[in-house]
Amino acid sequence: MTLTTTPFGKRATAAEVLDGVDLSGRRMIVTGGSSGLGAETVRALAGAGAQVTIATRNPDDAKPLLAEFPQTQAAALDLADLNSVRAFCSAWSGPLDGLVANAGVMMLPTRQTNAQGWEMQLAINYLGHFALAVGLRPALQSAENARVVVVSSGAQLRAGLDFDDPHFERRSYDPFVAYSQSKTADVLLAVGISRRWAEDGITANACAPGSIHTNLARHMDKATLMALGAMDADGNLVTPDYFKTPAQGAATTVLLAASPLLDGISGRYFEDNQESEVVDGGPDVREGVAKWSVDPAAADRLWDYALPVVH
Ligand SMILES: NC(=O)c1ccc[n+]([C@@H]2O[C@H](COP(=O)([O-])OP(=O)(O)OC[C@H]3O[C@@H](n4cnc5c(N)ncnc54)[C@H](OP(=O)(O)O)[C@@H]3O)[C@@H](O)[C@H]2O)c1
Repeated sequence: MTLTTTPFGKRATAAEVLDGVDLSGRRMIVTGGSSGLGAETVRALAGAGAQVTIATRNPDDAKPLLAEFPQTQAAALDLADLNSVRAFCSAWSGPLDGLVANAGVMMLPTRQTNAQGWEMQLAINYLGHFALAVGLRPALQSAENARVVVVSSGAQLRAGLDFDDPHFERRSYDPFVAYSQSKTADVLLAVGISRRWAEDGITANACAPGSIHTNLARHMDKATLMALGAMDADGNLVTPDYFKTPAQGAATTVLLAASPLLDGISGRYFEDNQESEVVDGGPDVREGVAKWSVDPAAADRLWDYALPVVH
C-alpha cells in the first residue's frame, strides 16, 4: 500500500497546513476545543473560515475563542456521560462537514468507571466519541464528503485493546496501559468508520499530535516527566527539542480535517503530517502505527462491542 505523503514537515503549524484553504460555509465540531491542542485546532479551522462548534464540558471556557472568532459557538458535552452525548447530538441540526474527536484524558491515577461500567479513559477517549459519531452520522451523511478525525497518540504503540478485560476488572489497573489501549481504540474507531460509512461519503482518519506541553500531563508524576526530559530536578517544566508547540501539535489534525491533500483518504493513521508505516507495537517502538491499531477484525469487533452500549 502506498503511504500518503504531504509537503509539510514535523514543524509545520496548523495555520501553515491550511494556508490558502478556504473553509467558508463548512461546519465543524472540535471536542475538547477550549484548551490545549483542541483550541489550536479551532483557531486554525476558524481562521480558514469554518463555522466551528467548540464541544466542551464547560462552555464558559470557550469564551476567549468565541471572542476571537465570531463565527464559532460553544456547546456543552461531557464524553463520560452518554446522556450528555445524546443531548448534544439531538441539539445538532443541519449538515456537519467535519467532526474532530480531540478531547481526551491521560493516566487517571486510579481506576474509575462511567455509568456503563467502562474504564474511564476508554469511556472518554473512545466510547463517548463513538457515541458522538454514531449520533451525528445523519448530519455527516448530509454534508457529503464529510470527514471524521480521531486524535490518537503514539501511546497506541504500547498496548492493543484487551478484549478479554477492557475495563481492568481482572487485571490490575495500570494508568498508562489504560491510556494506551484507549488510544488504540481511537485508531480502531477511524478504521471502523472507514469500513462502514464510505457509502455515505464519510472518510475517517486518526493521528498522533506528537509531544506537546498541555494540561494532558496533569496526572503524570515528576519522575515520569523527568524521564521524558520535560521536567528538571527542581520540578520546573522544560521543553526538550523533540517537543512541539501547540500550533505544531494541531497541524496533523487540521491536515486530516480540512486539507484537500487528504481528499478520499480514509482509514489511515498520520503523524508529523505524513501517513505512518504499520509496525509491530512494543515498549521501544517510537514511530508508526501498530498492527493491532489498524486491524480490521479488531475494528469490527470493537464496533460490535460498543454499539449496543450507545444505542
Ligand atoms: N499533548 C500531547 O503531548 C499529546 C500527545 C499525544 C496525544 N495527545 C492527544 O491530544 C488530545 C488533546 O489533548 P491536549 O494535549 O490538548 O490536552 P488538554 O489540554 O488536557 O485537552 C484535553 C481536552 O479534553 C477535554 N476533556 C477531558 N475530559 C472530557 C470529557 N469527559 N468530556 C469532554 N471533554 C473532555 C478537556 O476539557 P476540560 O478542559 O473540561 O478538562 C480538554 O479540553 C487528546 O486526545 C490527547 O490524548 C496529546
